Amino acid sequence: MTTGSLLAVDLVIAVLAAVGWLGAGAASAARRRPLALGLAALALLATLARAGTVTALARAGWWFAAEKVLIAAPLSFAGVVVAGPRLLRAVGDVRAVAVPLLFAGYAAGAGLLVTVLHGYPASAGVGLLALAGVVAATAVSWRILGARPSPTVSRAAVAVAVAALVTGTGLTVTPEPAPAVPHDHQYREAGTAGEPTRRFTLTAGTATVTVAGRDVAAWAFNGQVPGPELTATVGDVLEVTLRNRDIGRGVTLHWHGYDVPNSQDGVPGVTQAAVLPGQEFVYRFRADQVGTYWYHTHSASDVGVRKGLYGVLVVRPAPVTGVDVTVPVHTLSGLPLPAARTEPVQAGTPVRLRLINTDSTTHRYALAGTPFRVAAIDGYDLRGPTPLVDTTVLIPAGGRYDLVFTAPATPVALFVDGRQVYATGPVSAATGGWPVLDPLGYGAAAPVPWSRFDKTFTLVLDRGLDLRGLLPRYAHTVNGAADPDIPPQVVRFGDVVRFTIVNRSQVVHPWHLHGHHVLVLARDGRPAAGSPLWLDSFDVRPGEVWQVAFRADNPGMWANHCHNLAHADAGMTLHLMYA
Ligand code: C2O
Ligand code: CU
Repeated sequence: MTTGSLLAVDLVIAVLAAVGWLGAGAASAARRRPLALGLAALALLATLARAGTVTALARAGWWFAAEKVLIAAPLSFAGVVVAGPRLLRAVGDVRAVAVPLLFAGYAAGAGLLVTVLHGYPASAGVGLLALAGVVAATAVSWRILGARPSPTVSRAAVAVAVAALVTGTGLTVTPEPAPAVPHDHQYREAGTAGEPTRRFTLTAGTATVTVAGRDVAAWAFNGQVPGPELTATVGDVLEVTLRNRDIGRGVTLHWHGYDVPNSQDGVPGVTQAAVLPGQEFVYRFRADQVGTYWYHTHSASDVGVRKGLYGVLVVRPAPVTGVDVTVPVHTLSGLPLPAARTEPVQAGTPVRLRLINTDSTTHRYALAGTPFRVAAIDGYDLRGPTPLVDTTVLIPAGGRYDLVFTAPATPVALFVDGRQVYATGPVSAATGGWPVLDPLGYGAAAPVPWSRFDKTFTLVLDRGLDLRGLLPRYAHTVNGAADPDIPPQVVRFGDVVRFTIVNRSQVVHPWHLHGHHVLVLARDGRPAAGSPLWLDSFDVRPGEVWQVAFRADNPGMWANHCHNLAHADAGMTLHLMYA
């Protein structure tokens, strides 16, 4: 079983245990003896089964099990010890064991809440809060069920609950020192890139665009979705003037995957101020890396990108031979882009398909009718890519794959999630059952250029209750905190930095670091075995642990976030900061 499914199974069993004990408590309070016994047996089984799942999770990585071992297990154990023997001794009237059974239920429920609302890391404060909840709920049940707890016991219970509550709240809520992310700091003048050789103007505004014959309200660059395709030849200096006509939430341009100087990175509040209606901002940078990239607004990025503020950036070597096609995939108001197109290609012509995923979730791409190679991922050429046939590739949110092939005499077609988007002639193919390429085993290996790391960071991705803002929210968290409370990762210029990224949650997190490409070292403890993979966007699936590394060679303050932009908005954003 994968760690991801183990996490899901453990959650289901935990719910069963809590519901079982609580139900048994309620049934015994109502003197429904057989029901109470049945539910208690179910709860006991579930509790025992959890011993197995939690042990397995701990073996997959302490991150997956910490709070289960440290908080949920002791609580559940106490519940079983208190309720079990009393239940066995209860002959005749089962009502007498209602409170112990409820206690076991509260204990199991509290452990579950710690996992669902807080997660990793487990802290003493959270453990004490859980204990306070269990004691208080038990005391209240005891009074209600009229069993008249002895004054000593009830006073002791109140004292324990209050002490745990006070200590726990203190430990949990003590404000940590504000993270040193200087927002709105310096806007360094661009101008170091040299004389511009390619100039573009992008004007952001609300627009109505037609998709699949339907009029859709969009936010667009120059009235079109996607925005104009920006192309350059390696060595060009790009100058892009961004204007905002009427996007009230502001606009910026972020060059996704293009490792530009920090001042050109387009992150509002970090590298520049958002461009408001009537304003403009000029970006300038040298196009010194070839490859497939894209640009998008980083202001209110979730809604902005979704509504259409994105476009393609391609930097080509000179001269270009053959057919070179960009396929930026997007979902606009539920409608898929781009529209399907068919263009005959003469047999023998080299073809490059640049696949770009501009959505917030993974897409599945299948090329039918020809063997092909994956020549590049995220703009970086792969080493020794071998031919693939009838194989699909999964591209994470924000990611790009370049597929190359020599046009055969027969037609070829590209499918995205089963929908044909590009073809050289009529093709019908059922691609649903094709195997999926694992890029970590594709192409020719090369040694990792570093053997030691100057800085190592661990990012544990999860969900949790975030109480710091004005309104409590169920945030997407990193190490138990949500933006803007996640401490920045501080590095020095020249450091070799290693990230361990752990997904404890039930959903995929496409990870994206600005300003750098990271080299994949390992996934789930297995070293990457194929071509070196220099990525800027990679899917960390539930239960996965990725190790990636990079050299800190691009000074500044860089966003480091989940590229499911709704998650990024809901807390899953932090910063890499050069000291
Ligand atoms: Cu394409 Cu910070 O994002
Ligand atoms: Cu995410």
